[in-house]
Amino acid sequence: MVFKSNSSPYDLANLNVLVVDDQEDVRRGLNRLISTLGCKVSMSHSAEDALKILSRKPVDIVFTDLKMDGMSGEELLKEINQRWANIVVVLITGHGTIELAVKCLRNGASHFITKPFDNKEILKFVERAGYGILAEKLSLQRTKKKSIPIIAVDRKMKEVLELVERVAPQKIPVLIEGASGTGKELIAHEIHNRSRVKDKPFLAINCIALPDTLLDSELFGYRKGAFTGAIKDTIGLFEQANGGTVFLDEASSMSPLFQGKLLRVLQEKKVRPLGQNTERKVDFRIIAASNKNLSELVKKGEFREDLYYRLQVVKVSIPTLTQRRACIPALAEYFLKKAVSEFFYDDYPSPNISPSAMEELQNHTWSGNVRELENTIQRALIIQKGDKILPSHLGLTDNNLIAESLLGEEFTSYEESKQRVIENFQRQYVQNILEQTNGNISKAAEMCGLTRAALQRILKKLSL
Ligand SMILES: Nc1ncnc2c1ncn2[C@@H]1O[C@H](COP(=O)(O)OP(=O)(O)OP(=O)(O)O)[C@@H](O)[C@H]1O
Ligand SMILES: [Mg+2]
Repeated sequence: MVFKSNSSPYDLANLNVLVVDDQEDVRRGLNRLISTLGCKVSMSHSAEDALKILSRKPVDIVFTDLKMDGMSGEELLKEINQRWANIVVVLITGHGTIELAVKCLRNGASHFITKPFDNKEILKFVERAGYGILAEKLSLQRTKKKSIPIIAVDRKMKEVLELVERVAPQKIPVLIEGASGTGKELIAHEIHNRSRVKDKPFLAINCIALPDTLLDSELFGYRKGAFTGAIKDTIGLFEQANGGTVFLDEASSMSPLFQGKLLRVLQEKKVRPLGQNTERKVDFRIIAASNKNLSELVKKGEFREDLYYRLQVVKVSIPTLTQRRACIPALAEYFLKKAVSEFFYDDYPSPNISPSAMEELQNHTWSGNVRELENTIQRALIIQKGDKILPSHLGLTDNNLIAESLLGEEFTSYEESKQRVIENFQRQYVQNILEQTNGNISKAAEMCGLTRAALQRILKKLSL
């Protein structure tokens, strides 16, 4: 919903109400009354006509008579529940239909009003429900993130996105596995944003952060008075999802108790709030993320096998950044633009990443993956002084070659490893200095304390 710019988001003028009744005087009476609150009110003489209006424009609250020629109010309620789950439905009842109205309350109606009307009661209801609706819309607008582009140059990452595109539209549970900082949460958001329920909530639970003591109240909700401090009825996270997505982050950290409770909710799609005897239906799609291999944990007996199979109906494995080096230049450029617009005003001249700095970024072993690359670019942007980001600004102590010679499959001798490390240092050092002098060898030699001939020998040896 787009709020009018000249009114507060909490203004009831942003609320759309539809009154459905085959009696003209009832329609007009309710219209006049509810309009006094400033809401926009439309009127329909039949349920069929109401459905036409509902498919044309957004409506927040529907007042409908129960007994009408043609489609009844009860049938209209059913149709609204199926097609526009967020609309609040209020029934208009005569004496003969109170029992039916009570039944409708169990089927999703929010309230009923009896004829003759109590004007104060109606106004109080519209006001209360209206502010609740506006607050919910506003929080949805705030939490709805601007869509973030996902950079995928490497074939492995493109395959990940293809899989995401295929599974996103259905309600299939997805398990996202990947090392720390590879983009698991980003992919989870992408799945939600490409789903049919993208306008419904995306709610995240961090399984490390949620201790068992808070589990029931946070996830299942509670009734007023269920425990000390339960001052009002509160719905739990599964119910708040309301057809949207629940994102279980750090799933490998779930305690055995949590695992058992979650499995039950996934199987039965019902929760029982604390202090309540009856169960309530819940509807959500589950996406879980883990930086550990869950099947390994299942083998070790640390994760329930039955829950694992429920979560990983489709598994998305995100490669490490080192496994998709081809993505690094595009990611680095993207993070640079992003950091410039985040930290500086529009007139700030954005620096470039020098070729040797880019080479260093591409050769580095990124244990912290994409997040570490983003932090490195941010830091480099802050400490550079000219119009270029140079290798020295990256602060990467590149021990890759040493590590490779020690850990690689092919063991290299001490002398050979040392030679490779020295050459790597020389290449970066010389490229860096030449970039600063725009290729002027004499000036570069002077700056690094070498003779021109010595610098030229190094350049020749390195074929630069
Ligand atoms: N392919 C990508 N394109 C653009 N940005 C990305 C990409 N992958 C990750 N990012 C960015 O990198 C950062 C880390 O990503 P995210 O938080 O999703 O990782 P994570 O796997 O959930 O990390 P952790 O394991 O630490 O929770 C975020 O700022 C995210 O927007
Ligand atoms: Mg994460």
